[in-house]
Amino acid sequence: MEDQIRSLGERAHAELGAAADEAALEAWRVEHLGRKGALAALMTRLGAVPKEERPRLGALANEVKAGLQAAFDARIAALEAERRRAAEAAERVDVTLPGAPPNPGRLHLTTQTLRRICTIFHGMGFEIFESPEVESDSYNFELLNMPRHHPARDMWDTFYVNDTTLLRTHTSPGQIHAMKGRAPEPIRVVLPGRVFRYEAVSARSEFMFYQVEGIAVGRNVTMAQLKWLLESFASQMYGGKRRLRLRGSYFPFTEPSVEVDMDCILCGGKGCRICKGTGWLEIAGAGMIHPNVLENGGYDPAVFTGFAFGMGPERIAMQVHGIDDIRYFYSNDLRFLAQFSAEV
Ligand code: PHE
Repeated sequence: MEDQIRSLGERAHAELGAAADEAALEAWRVEHLGRKGALAALMTRLGAVPKEERPRLGALANEVKAGLQAAFDARIAALEAERRRAAEAAERVDVTLPGAPPNPGRLHLTTQTLRRICTIFHGMGFEIFESPEVESDSYNFELLNMPRHHPARDMWDTFYVNDTTLLRTHTSPGQIHAMKGRAPEPIRVVLPGRVFRYEAVSARSEFMFYQVEGIAVGRNVTMAQLKWLLESFASQMYGGKRRLRLRGSYFPFTEPSVEVDMDCILCGGKGCRICKGTGWLEIAGAGMIHPNVLENGGYDPAVFTGFAFGMGPERIAMQVHGIDDIRYFYSNDLRFLAQFSAEV
């Protein structure tokens, strides 16, 4: 019996040394120290040994059991200490590592372009105005000389909110807001903002983009002034001395109406990839404000004249940077956006 107790103890110590993780330790505890364990089984057999032997063997069994318990406790404590050390190591901060540079972000290419456009016009005496993105049919169309069912409305595919409300398809309703707020004082105003078109998205068209509208109303405002203004704008915006060409066109709210072309910034007019071989880049729609529109804005068309123009900042940015797909602007791919560092 004594040998059995001793060898059981030795075997248990050896197995404890081999138990690698918590699960193995728990299995070991159940097997060797549990109430149904091997040692407990031996102890129940103490009653069968001769009386004189019992105290010695009982003491031995208890001693072996206490030894095993102590060894077990020590292993558990060591395991816990090890786990704590690992957790602390994971949290430790190495203050000698170089810092991660903060990413300061940058202005969106459209914002940069809008700011440049507005700064240039502001420098030429224009105020910056804003007008609503959700408009009435009346401001977006009727007051701009397009009554209901006017065929020219088809030039703008429209998101309607209901029968009378829509998302503005251009910044031109801002002409009416600006005029009404100021008539009969002369005004010079630019209106930057978002516009919406119910159109299939492609490399050339988005359902949302920006425009910058500009108007000047006063006595003796002329088309020649419009051309001078846009020529001066183009030279500041694109650099160099730019030449413009006005092409006859049609808008219901201007008469006469023109498309404004500028000599190509890449080839200077010889014809290249950017201008598709024509030598010219279209930069704006424009014209003299229609008498009906002047009147709707509160100006007497017998006394006042005005010009208006509208341009697309994305298109300008595309020309300047050689971007061939407008979808890059609003798909939020940082690989695109990060190429245009901010010039606040
Ligand atoms: N609103 C016109 C468009 O969206 C542009 C324009 C503005 C034309 C002002 C003439 C005068 O196409």
